[in-house]
Amino acid sequence: MEEELLRGATEPLLAWYRENKRDLPWRKERSFYSVLLSELMLQQTRVEAVKDRYTRFLERFPTAQSLAAASEDEVLKNWEGLGYYSRARNLWKAAKILAERGEPQTWVGVRALPGVGDYTAGAISSIALGLKEPAVDGNVLRILTRLFADGRNIDDAGTKKYFSDLLRKVFPPETGDFTEALMELGAIVCVPNGPPTCGACPWSGVCRAHLAGREAEFPVRSEKKARRIEMLDVFVLRHADLYAVRKRGEGLLAGLWEFPNSPSQLAPSGENQQLAPSEGNQQLAPSEEGGRGVGATFGEVLATKSAKHIFTHVEWRMTGYLIEAKERDPQFAWVSAGELRAHYAIPSAFRAFLAWLEE
Ligand code: ADE
Repeated sequence: MEEELLRGATEPLLAWYRENKRDLPWRKERSFYSVLLSELMLQQTRVEAVKDRYTRFLERFPTAQSLAAASEDEVLKNWEGLGYYSRARNLWKAAKILAERGEPQTWVGVRALPGVGDYTAGAISSIALGLKEPAVDGNVLRILTRLFADGRNIDDAGTKKYFSDLLRKVFPPETGDFTEALMELGAIVCVPNGPPTCGACPWSGVCRAHLAGREAEFPVRSEKKARRIEMLDVFVLRHADLYAVRKRGEGLLAGLWEFPNSPSQLAPSGENQQLAPSEGNQQLAPSEEGGRGVGATFGEVLATKSAKHIFTHVEWRMTGYLIEAKERDPQFAWVSAGELRAHYAIPSAFRAFLAWLEE
């Protein structure tokens, strides 16, 4: 029976975790705020990318109070390059709630914080509050569907609930370690890409998929949708050592700063693609000829380069134009390269064009 198998697998997993866990900065300090910070940073972002950024963020904003007192621009600047910036804004809002009302003590209270879904609520509740609440994401579904050789589709909402209920029944007293041990097994042994290293797995003697040599058959999931491709012309306008930037409005990367840009009229190559919706941005220059009209609009084109950036559901294919602007168009903020780097949060999508900036 599933419950008995999982109960029996719990202690070996904890023992394996104590021996093999990675030395990660958020595994040292365990305040509610620091767990909230690490779990929000780790949403959609790899552990390796988070490590240094977590430490740096915590040095800059050591408490919920210090974060609550910061400006939105400061918070976004300290999140620069991590992507999914709504997490930074949610963290900031959550910090204000913690500073005003104190820390929640229940799963429901944690789940009500901005940016906290079921998975993150389970992680925070079990790690920071000692509650027997599971955190089930794709990694945990992978190890459990393999353990049970369970062919349920992990993209069905019911699957997550089924495994959450099962975990709740066997939760050991070491709640945080159990949650992180499940994550750890999925991260370093029962890995998502490529074959799992079953020789190093504490469950190799009981894992039904492994015993049947069927590890690769699990998890079962729906086919992914292809990303939408958007073509963008990006204008790095320079005028007497100052550069044009503007703040993005609603939508993707809201509130961050960007170089002026507009959807390119060039048809993307390949199938299943469409032109960029404007995301609320104004059309800045005629670009039927792939930006050749740009010179006439803004000034002399000094260089061009292409770059691409992949988001979860969208891929940007960009053509950048470095331009000696004829004038300082007042619709933009004009700032020096130094100021831009120090104070303006620019999404990584535009990083390729930052190399053009001269200090
Ligand atoms: N992914 C999400 N939360 C994590 C944690 N606490 N440790 C390692 N990886 C994680």
